[in-house]
Amino acid sequence: MAKVLIISGSVYGTATLVSDDIKAALEAAGHQVTHQEGGSADSLAGEGLDLALICTSTTGSGDVPANLMDFENALFDAPPRVAGLKYAVIALGDSSYGDSFCGAGKTLDRAMEDIGAVRVQEPLLIDAIEHSTPEDVAVPWAESLVAGLAS
Ligand SMILES: Cc1cc2nc3c(=O)[nH]c(=O)nc-3n(C[C@H](O)[C@H](O)[C@H](O)COP(=O)(O)O)c2cc1C
Repeated sequence: MAKVLIISGSVYGTATLVSDDIKAALEAAGHQVTHQEGGSADSLAGEGLDLALICTSTTGSGDVPANLMDFENALFDAPPRVAGLKYAVIALGDSSYGDSFCGAGKTLDRAMEDIGAVRVQEPLLIDAIEHSTPEDVAVPWAESLVAGLAS
């Protein structure tokens, strides 16, 4: 059983829905999961956390959604003590935005690494042009990731 924290950032609700689906799937597999929409960075320092999963869309031009801006600012300005915390990022985006494709997820991935968390997998980048139902990609990816934590 793994203790997993999902922190989601969303403008129109897609990343929220994806996170809820991941939570349901992981709980069905016996894991303990908390999902925070626009989470607090301090939660990353929680006791006994096995994995932090950050699931975010991108808005503007490579920007983090408004409900994750406090989280992003805290990672840069007042980082929580996360040394050794395992994390992974699921980034929702749209490749028609060119260089800013999945920019928010990529920024948060780098920020987590910079404050001492340990990336367990390269970010999953989900392109809205290819996937109208991103949960179909994200849920099996997260299930396999968490199953692999134990080994
Ligand atoms: C105004 C606006 C700006 C966007 N900017 C970007 C962007 O810079 N890069 C990107 O990859 N996707 C961008 N997107 C696409 C969204 O990230 C994508 O549609 C995502 O699935 C939306 O998820 P959400 O419903 O959780 O917000 C943008 C979408 C909108 C509507």
